[in-house]
Amino acid sequence: MWDKLEKIRLQAAEEIKGTKTVAELEEMKVKWLGRKSELTELLRGLGKMPAEERPKLGQKTNEIKRELEKYCEERENVLQKKEEEQSLQADLFDVTLPGRGRVNGHLHPLTRTMLELEDYFARMGYMIYETDNLTNEYDNFEGVNIPADHPARGMWDTFWVKGEEKKKGRLCMATHTSCIQNRILRENKPPYKAVALGRCFRREATDATHEHTFYQIEGVIVDKKLSVGNLKKTLMDMVQFIIGRRVPIRLRPSYFPFVEPGFEVDVQCGKCEGKGCNMCKGNGWIEMLGAGMIHQNVFVEAGYKRNEWTGFAYGPGYDRLTMMRYGITDIRHFFNSEPEFIEQF
Ligand code: FA5
Repeated sequence: MWDKLEKIRLQAAEEIKGTKTVAELEEMKVKWLGRKSELTELLRGLGKMPAEERPKLGQKTNEIKRELEKYCEERENVLQKKEEEQSLQADLFDVTLPGRGRVNGHLHPLTRTMLELEDYFARMGYMIYETDNLTNEYDNFEGVNIPADHPARGMWDTFWVKGEEKKKGRLCMATHTSCIQNRILRENKPPYKAVALGRCFRREATDATHEHTFYQIEGVIVDKKLSVGNLKKTLMDMVQFIIGRRVPIRLRPSYFPFVEPGFEVDVQCGKCEGKGCNMCKGNGWIEMLGAGMIHQNVFVEAGYKRNEWTGFAYGPGYDRLTMMRYGITDIRHFFNSEPEFIEQF
């Protein structure tokens, strides 16, 4: 029995001191001091030993137990410290290391144009509106003098949406920002100036200058005695602001049911300065917007007396304004998420 105790003491001490991790030490604690350890078994079996030896054997067993517990405690301190240091070393972050290059996002060129235009118009005293993507037959067509049987409805390839708005007819995606004209006229007392920015949707095949989803700005100005001269000057100033210099524009007579007279407005191609190039398809001019003097039917529809007020309206696509501004030759770049494209701005 005495020999056995001594053997346990030596072997346990050696194994405890030889542990390399806290987890290993935990295993040794269970092995040598746990409920099923040899020492505990021996203590349990003391009752079977001769009575005169029991006290001494019990005392010795407890001494060995305490000795082994002390080794465990010492080893635990050493191993814990070592493991803490190792984990600190692994997490070490060198604050003096140079950076790995900055990742800076920036605004999309269309967003930049939109924000700058908003700012420009606000400074010019315009009220700023935003059009809804989803609108209805009345606001998109009837409110701007395009009744249901009007052939001009075919000019806009409309995305119809299931559903109907009470009193305003079938739902559709806004085909142009002119869908807000009726509301602007109804909500304001002349004289006033308002612009509305928004998205337009048309069931169109895409090419270098056409997208199915694009952006327009609607300008609506109402006052006494306004003329095409006022309209032209307003457009020249706006184009100058966007492009950064005076660029020739021209008004071609055109037809929009909500204006009379109506115009298609072209801006001289900034790339070739009117000589003709791939960007303007050899024309020297790029169509930028529709415009004209507000039709009296539109005034009447919005509750005004016929011929009491004059006004003009215009609707440039600001995708095309942005293209001209930056010399972008294909509108589809705006939406195809190519980092090579977007990083240039
Ligand atoms: C209209 O949408 C009229 N509502 C404009 C208007 C407003 C006329 C007020 C009179 C008074 P139009 O369909 O031509 O007109 O479009 C106007 C501009 O939007 C175009 O000149 C062009 O710059 C842009 N645009 C039209 N369709 C597309 C398209 N599919 N992709 C990109 N831009 C487009």
